[in-house]
Amino acid sequence: MKTIGVLTSGGDSPGMNAAIRAVVRTALQNNIRVVGIQRGYSGLINGEITELTRDSVSDIIQRGGTILKTARSNTFRTEEGRRRAADVLKVFGVEGLVVVGGDGSFMGAKLLSDLGVATIGLPGTIDNDLAYTDYTIGFDTALNTVIDAVNKLKDTSSSHERASVVEVMGRNCGDIALYSGLAGGAESIILPEKPFDMDELCRGILEGKMRGKLHNLIMVAEGVGKAEEIAKKIEDITGIEARVTKLGHIQRGGSPTVADRVLATRMGYRAVELLREGKSARVVGIKNNKIIDLDITEALAIESKFDEDLFKIAETISY
Ligand code: F6P
Repeated sequence: MKTIGVLTSGGDSPGMNAAIRAVVRTALQNNIRVVGIQRGYSGLINGEITELTRDSVSDIIQRGGTILKTARSNTFRTEEGRRRAADVLKVFGVEGLVVVGGDGSFMGAKLLSDLGVATIGLPGTIDNDLAYTDYTIGFDTALNTVIDAVNKLKDTSSSHERASVVEVMGRNCGDIALYSGLAGGAESIILPEKPFDMDELCRGILEGKMRGKLHNLIMVAEGVGKAEEIAKKIEDITGIEARVTKLGHIQRGGSPTVADRVLATRMGYRAVELLREGKSARVVGIKNNKIIDLDITEALAIESKFDEDLFKIAETISY
């Protein structure tokens, strides 16, 4: 393999730059030329391609976002769009492509592989919603961003003896809410994966009040989508004031944590190894701290890895 490409696609996540850096440096070290594709599949179709050198990826490991920029492309969803993308790669002599993104981006990588381009996917999303891997690149940083905000919210919430309802991202996956709720000492964690009982929640809040608890932290995953409704019910049933905070896109930014930088670097390195081994249509993941790779279709077919044990622990120690 003489030339490979790298692109980032879908929602950005902290650590994508570390992954790009690892791909570029591993490839160059093995005498493989690397090109960077701007704006995901959309930029690919438009031929937004430039050569990447060791220097183009220096001083980026600590930066959030992605130097290659990212986008969601409707044209790439069509067969004609994908053919154009494959033709562009051929024109630039790109034989292998590393795609950093989520499930939609992986599906695109699989379809490109069917058109003869070797593709490898790296899980870049804060949502941690890819069941084949224990962790995705950006999840740990997003959790730390959430925790920083939660610590501050608990201060003001305690001063006013209020309930704080915090909505976090994750699409249909509750992992950000679960992990940050556990680490932030939430009284309740409300997730798309679990039914929840409003009466039980309010009983817990009132019992806590009787014991002298000053604040209540309720973490709600965006996939549940009812933060305002939950806050109103808390006020109506318990008489305790409730405020909603939606952390939004702040969760997608920031300098990646050590865990995300190391994960992204290990995965980027493995992606190039796989291309050198002649593999295609595979995704890289991590299981029990070992880097793994799987067929894309098989990986996407794996259903939720929701951690029941962690949820049980969080519930047990919450009030
Ligand atoms: O997939 C990452 C994510 O941040 C989700 O948590 C969220 O639902 C979505 O992207 C937001 O997308 P956008 O940036 O298009 O508003």
